[in-house]
Amino acid sequence: MSCRLAILVSGSGTNLQAIIDAVRAGTLPAEIALVLSNRPGVKALERAAAAEIPQRCIPHQDFPNRAAFEDALCAALDEVQPDGIVLAGFDRVLSPEFVRRYPHRIFNIHPALLPAFPGLHAARQALAYGVKVTGVTVHFVDEGTDTGPIILQETVPIHPTDTEESLLERLHAVEHRLFPEALRLFAAGRLKIDGRQVNVV
Ligand code: GRF
Repeated sequence: MSCRLAILVSGSGTNLQAIIDAVRAGTLPAEIALVLSNRPGVKALERAAAAEIPQRCIPHQDFPNRAAFEDALCAALDEVQPDGIVLAGFDRVLSPEFVRRYPHRIFNIHPALLPAFPGLHAARQALAYGVKVTGVTVHFVDEGTDTGPIILQETVPIHPTDTEESLLERLHAVEHRLFPEALRLFAAGRLKIDGRQVNVV
C-alpha cells in the first residue's frame, strides 16, 4: 500500500525536491498526489511541474478571509484524499478547524530544536541568543504554532563565524534528509502517538 501525500508550499521548495527525490529513488514508498501552493509562480511549482506531479495554486489573496481560503484548500485536498499533508515551507498559519480535520496527519519541519525558537527566522533567533547548538525538528502540526508532537530532531552546531546564511545552509542539508526520513516512518506505519510522545516502533 502506498501512502498518498499532499505537499503544501509557498517558496523555493528545496524540501519538496528532497521528498520528490526520495520517492523517485524508491527510499520513500509514497505517492505525491498533489503539490499545492498559495503563491503563484514560485520555484516549488516549477519543481512539481518538472517532476510531472499534479499541482494547484490557490492564492490566499483571492479570498476574503482565512476560513474561505481554507475551504478552498480542503476542497482541493478532498479531491485527492491524502493520507498525509506535508507543510514544506508553507507560509500560512492554519486554523484550529483545519488542523482538527486531519489529526496527526499534518507534518511540519522547523529549522530549530523546538520548543526553542518557534516562529519565523529561527536561525536568526538562535544566532542572536548565542546558543552553541541548534538543529531541525519534524513534528505533527497541532493547534498551536510549532507546538505539535515531535517526530524527529537532529542537532546542528553553531560556529563562531556563522552568519544566518551559512547556518541556514547547514540546517537545510539536515532538513533534506530528516523530512523524507520522518515521512518514511509514517508511510511504514511506524509512528505511534501517545499524547505528546511520538514513538518509532
Ligand atoms: C525550511 O527552512 C523549513 O524549515 C521552513 O521553511 C523553509 C522552506 O524551505 N519551514 P524550502 O521552500 O523547502 O526550500
